[in-house]
Amino acid sequence: MLVDKERTEAYVPEHRYPLPLRSAMPEVWALWQRAKTLEWDPQTDIPWEELRPERYSAEQRLAAQMYWSRRTWGEYGAISESPALLLRFSLERRLPDLQFFFTMRTMEEGRHAEASWLMAERLGRYFPQPQNPPTAGAVGTHGVRRMAFDPETSLEGIFASLVCAAEEILIDVFKATVHKATNPAVRRLMELILRDEVRHIAFGWQCLDAWAPSFTPETVRNIEVAVTTMIEQVEFRGYRNLWLAIEGGSATPAEIEADRISCEAGLGGSTPEDEMAIFPEFLTKIRKRMAPYGVNLPLFDHPRLGKV
Ligand SMILES: [Fe+2]
Ligand SMILES: [Fe+2]
Repeated sequence: MLVDKERTEAYVPEHRYPLPLRSAMPEVWALWQRAKTLEWDPQTDIPWEELRPERYSAEQRLAAQMYWSRRTWGEYGAISESPALLLRFSLERRLPDLQFFFTMRTMEEGRHAEASWLMAERLGRYFPQPQNPPTAGAVGTHGVRRMAFDPETSLEGIFASLVCAAEEILIDVFKATVHKATNPAVRRLMELILRDEVRHIAFGWQCLDAWAPSFTPETVRNIEVAVTTMIEQVEFRGYRNLWLAIEGGSATPAEIEADRISCEAGLGGSTPEDEMAIFPEFLTKIRKRMAPYGVNLPLFDHPRLGKV
């Protein structure tokens, strides 16, 4: 319990007035306008009748159930990260454009979580947790999300790691593999998620570009640390794809193979060959994209990807 004095010190008043609402970031405002017109409903906008899971082998169904369950956990995590960031925008008195857009972003992450969960369920089973609970260290939590509440991590660092890097690799993999999803229901779901995520990424980069002229050396360092943490502690621990996990941890072989088997069945996911091609390109891209900010990302050593 906080005593009264501590409570007073911990309290940061929210200054709301004056409240100018005219857009100050027209590109972000345009994303908000666009998001409002692109509604879809996971219950009704996926051709579920074309999923027909009985056409697949038990092994393929299990892999796809695992893949879509893992996607659900990730999307569900994003539902809580969004309001955490909204609070930061308010407390730091950022422009209203950001807050408008992020209310929609929160809703969209909810939609992705529901859609991914429905996909796992309709493939036969949603797994509410990893096979061996200790794997939860890699897939159940997302250390970087906690940064949203950490005053030591600047908003710029959170944006660079969580909005730009983490969502960027996700959509790079989706873009590069959506054509492999031969199942019409899976393909449609991937296209709809992709359509939303493209806006999320655009938002992240637009904000960083707009703020870049005021970056201090400390901001730049903060971005470098946050993005490096995202790559090493989240991606390389298998948060998105267990095949990338440097240490296998307690993941079962079925979990590690799930993305590949599901992908090869046309039910979503990626193969190790896809990751070997996409991941290094993604790093080259964000390195180049962040270089004008003065951000210098290190080379990463990965046992399967090599020096990337
Ligand atoms: Fe999402
Ligand atoms: Fe997103």
